[in-house]
Amino acid sequence: MTGPGQTTAYPNPLRDPLDRRLPRIPEPCALVIFGVTGDLSRKKLLPAIYDLANRGLLPPGFVVLGFARRDWGDGEFETMAREAAQAHARTPWRDEVWARLAGSVKFVGGTFDDDAAFDTLSRTLDQLRETHGIEGNAAFYLSIPPAAFPVVLKQMQRTGMADNEKSGGWRRVVVEKPFGFDLASARELNDLVDDVFTAPDVFRIDHYLGKETVQNILALRFANALFEPVWNARYVDSVQITMAEDVGISSRAGFYDSAGAARDVLQNHLMQLLALVAMEEPTSFDATEIRTEKLKVLRAITLPADIATGTVRGQYQQGWVAGERVVGYLEEANVPPSSTTESYVAVSLGIQNRRWAGVPIYIRTGKRMPRRVTEIAVLFKKAPHLPFHAADVELLGHNQLVVRVQPDEGVTVKFGSKVPGTTMEVRDITMDFQYGEAFTESSPEAYERLVLDVLIGDSTLFPLAEEVEAGWRVVDPLEEAWAGTAPFTYRAGEWGPRAADEMLAQDGRTWRRP
Ligand code: BG6
Repeated sequence: MTGPGQTTAYPNPLRDPLDRRLPRIPEPCALVIFGVTGDLSRKKLLPAIYDLANRGLLPPGFVVLGFARRDWGDGEFETMAREAAQAHARTPWRDEVWARLAGSVKFVGGTFDDDAAFDTLSRTLDQLRETHGIEGNAAFYLSIPPAAFPVVLKQMQRTGMADNEKSGGWRRVVVEKPFGFDLASARELNDLVDDVFTAPDVFRIDHYLGKETVQNILALRFANALFEPVWNARYVDSVQITMAEDVGISSRAGFYDSAGAARDVLQNHLMQLLALVAMEEPTSFDATEIRTEKLKVLRAITLPADIATGTVRGQYQQGWVAGERVVGYLEEANVPPSSTTESYVAVSLGIQNRRWAGVPIYIRTGKRMPRRVTEIAVLFKKAPHLPFHAADVELLGHNQLVVRVQPDEGVTVKFGSKVPGTTMEVRDITMDFQYGEAFTESSPEAYERLVLDVLIGDSTLFPLAEEVEAGWRVVDPLEEAWAGTAPFTYRAGEWGPRAADEMLAQDGRTWRRP
């Protein structure tokens, strides 16, 4: 309420702690990275830290503490971290930024079962309070295979490193996917983590939630008056979510062949996209409120009545992608020749609530598709009556709203328009919003945003354990039904197996060509 003499027209952001336009800077702290020599750390985490430093978003008391099986001192780690940041940072390289960070890059070497190494790590954290003013605050990033989680968590428990009270500051843990292999193992993993950290201190990373375009779904839906009134079964015909990648599985057969596309990305990234598109409006833009609404809609997902006809699995065969000849899935290094793992999956889901009842949600994802594109298309029903001759509207399709998640970030609205001239003909045209054109500021990398949020303690963009479990409740029955079946094949460079087109044809629909 505004009292006499007060105004809400120009709120003073410096007085309002909830004003999110202000840059948020974490308290002094350490970021401990387990598995710091791995791919994720080199390509994403260390560059993200440099980018944050470059943008002035790290506190003066800040340390990156790497832990890995290497006989390294701080110097060797600093060299590796600098090279990684130079190779992969988003923002321009500035020697003076690194010079400031270089003194805050520390290393402890050892294996996960080495008590002495963890004792050293714990001691180092204590010393860093004095030498670098980190005030007992630390986030532990588990950039390690899930099989190593139990031993690392136990070590943290044994040394008291996970203990908020003992540390006199905050202690948080960051867990990377895969969050288990199925519902049972996800629960085990959650129990394991909960045993050592309290729930609000656990940050599960789904990097899709760190993407600017994904966060914009909330702004698009809940900051505007235009879209929400038609965002329901009365006006929406169907939703199509596509995550296509042109890459193959590269050197990841060890993980990928035991997982497949459904476990790798449907269970997590695609479920999160679906949740944001379909959730109800949260009562506020607050972590608890947003995650509550996401969880509700994830729990309302229904599987196809017949999994055999409502899903399609595919595996790529040799072909051409972007002018390059590529091998088939079975020829990839370390893939068993008899593997039936899918590199493509399409599924037709439903949502059992008043807003979405009867609206099919088609989701597809695949590797070695013609190009990399992730998009969410909301296809609207045709107008109930068209006062035109049938021939005049022959080229009029469904009105569509397409959130272009990547790489050409933006939003497209597709609708019919009269073709100029003396004739009457209506054709589909598109209206585009492009990030690159509308804003001068470039979008941060997903990991940049998420690492910062962990250090700040903002869990809005991190899925709850229950969301992870809801994802497995969708994927587990599919996996069970697929067991022992062979996937369809598709040529590398095609939009998946023909069976996926047939899956939509049986509903009288076709896939959008992104
Ligand atoms: C990862 C999957 O989570 O996401 C990979 O394990 C996939 O298989 C990747 O390639 C895609 O991420 P992005 O950000 O490139 O779309």
